[in-house]
Amino acid sequence: MSGNSDIRPGDARCPGISVQDLLDDDSRPVPDYLTTESYFFLGDKDIAFSRYTSPDYFRRELEQLWPKVWQWACREEHIPETGDYVVYDVGPYSILVVRAEDGGIRAFRNACTHRGTKLRPSYSSGSIEHIRCPYHGWTFNLDGDLASFPCEWDFPHVDPKDYALGAVQVDTWGGFVFINMDPDAPPLREYMAPLPEHVDSAVFANRYVAIHVQKELDCNWKIASEAFLEAYHVMETHSQLMRTNGDANTQYDFYGDNVNRLINVAGSPSAFLQEPMTEQEILDCFLIGDRSDVGEKLLVPEGGTARKVMAQFYRDMVAKRGGTDLSRVSDSEIVDSIAYFVFPNQQFFSGISFPIVYRFRPLGMQHDKSLFDLIILKQRPLDGSPVEPAEPVRLKPEESYTIVPGMDPYVGHVYDQDTGNMEAAQEGAMTSGRAGATLGNYQEIRIRHMHRTLEKYVRD
Ligand code: FES
Ligand SMILES: [Fe+2]
Repeated sequence: MSGNSDIRPGDARCPGISVQDLLDDDSRPVPDYLTTESYFFLGDKDIAFSRYTSPDYFRRELEQLWPKVWQWACREEHIPETGDYVVYDVGPYSILVVRAEDGGIRAFRNACTHRGTKLRPSYSSGSIEHIRCPYHGWTFNLDGDLASFPCEWDFPHVDPKDYALGAVQVDTWGGFVFINMDPDAPPLREYMAPLPEHVDSAVFANRYVAIHVQKELDCNWKIASEAFLEAYHVMETHSQLMRTNGDANTQYDFYGDNVNRLINVAGSPSAFLQEPMTEQEILDCFLIGDRSDVGEKLLVPEGGTARKVMAQFYRDMVAKRGGTDLSRVSDSEIVDSIAYFVFPNQQFFSGISFPIVYRFRPLGMQHDKSLFDLIILKQRPLDGSPVEPAEPVRLKPEESYTIVPGMDPYVGHVYDQDTGNMEAAQEGAMTSGRAGATLGNYQEIRIRHMHRTLEKYVRD
C-alpha cells in the first residue's frame, strides 16, 4: 500500500521547491498567465494500449481526427513570394500551401480534379507560376481555379467552375501557417485559446527557422508526442539535466480541450539530486539556447542565483545586438521551458532564449511509424534583410541528432535520449499483456488531457 489516504487524488505535489515559489523570487514582475495554475484531477483510468498498437484505431484517427484539426503546415518565411509553395503531409493526406498573387496564402488538397493525381510530390517545396498536373496537364491558377486543360472538346460536361482545387482552411499565427481540412472547423484563434492571449505572437513571428530536423520514428505518433508532455522522465532518461533543471516540480496546466502547458524551471536543480550544488556550479553547466556570446566566465554575485545571472546575460546580449528591449521581461520568460501543446500534435516553447517547436504526425499509412519535426527558431536579422529558412534534415530512426549541421551537441544528445525510448515504448505496448498505460495524476496530466480530447473525435 502506498500513497497518503488523507490527500485527494491529484492534490499531491513534489516536495521540492515549486515553480510558483521560484517565480515569486523573479527579478521582475512575472505576468499573470504564468502565476496562475489550471489543473484539476481528470481521473486515473488507464489509457488503452490499442490506441497505439491497433491498425484499426489508427484508421479511425485518419478518418475522424486528422481531417478536422488545425495543424501548422509551414512557416511564412517558407513561402515569401508569389508562387512559393510547401506540401504538408500527414498520414495519407497531402496539402498544397501556396503564396497567391494577392500576397495571401491558400491551401488546397494536393490532388488534381481530373483523375486525382497528386499535383506536387509529398514533402516538396519550391516555386511555381501555376499549378500544373504532371499527368495530362490540367492547369490551375494560384487561387486553385481550373485555368485550362487540353482537349476541352472532349469534356463538354466539365464546367471549370466546378473543378477548382479542393480548398482547405488556412490561417496564421506567430509566423506559422496552419491548415484545417474541415470547412466547418472553428477559427484558429478560438481553437488555440488561450495561447494567443498568453504569449505574444511576436515571440515566434520575429524569428525564422534556423534548424529543422525531421526524424522518422518506429512508433505511433502519440508515443512520440507524449514523450515531450511530461518531465517525469527527466531523472531516468536525462539524468545529466538534473544539475540544472527541475523535473518532478514542473508545473502542468490545461485549458479547454486543445491547449495544455508545462513550466519547467531552469537554474534550479532536481529535488532528487544527491549532492547539493552552489549557484555558481549550476550556472557553469546552465543550458541556454544561444550561448555564442558567453566570452569570459559568468559569476554569480553574493546572494544572486544562476537563473538571474543567465536571464541578465541574455538581456544584455540582446541589447548589445540592438535587439528587442527585454529589460522588463521576467527571468522565467527568458530562461525557463514554457511549452504550450495545441491538440493534437504540436508544441510551442515560448521561452525567449530557446524557442523551439515540435510537430508529430503519422508517417504514411502505418500505425507504428511517425515523423517528428523539431524546429529551432532564431531572431530575424535586425536590418530586415530576408532570411532563408533551413532545409529540413531528415534522420532515420537510428541516426543521431548530433549529425545535424548547427545542432548543439548537448541539445542533440538530449533528443537522442528522448527518441531512444520510443521504439521500446511501442514494442512494449504490443507485448504488455496489460490493457493500458497507467499515468501519474499530476505529472502526466497533459497526456490524459490530450486523450480526453482525442476521445471526442475517435471512438475506442
Ligand atoms: S489527373 Fe491531372 S491532368 Fe489528368
Ligand atoms: Fe525528454
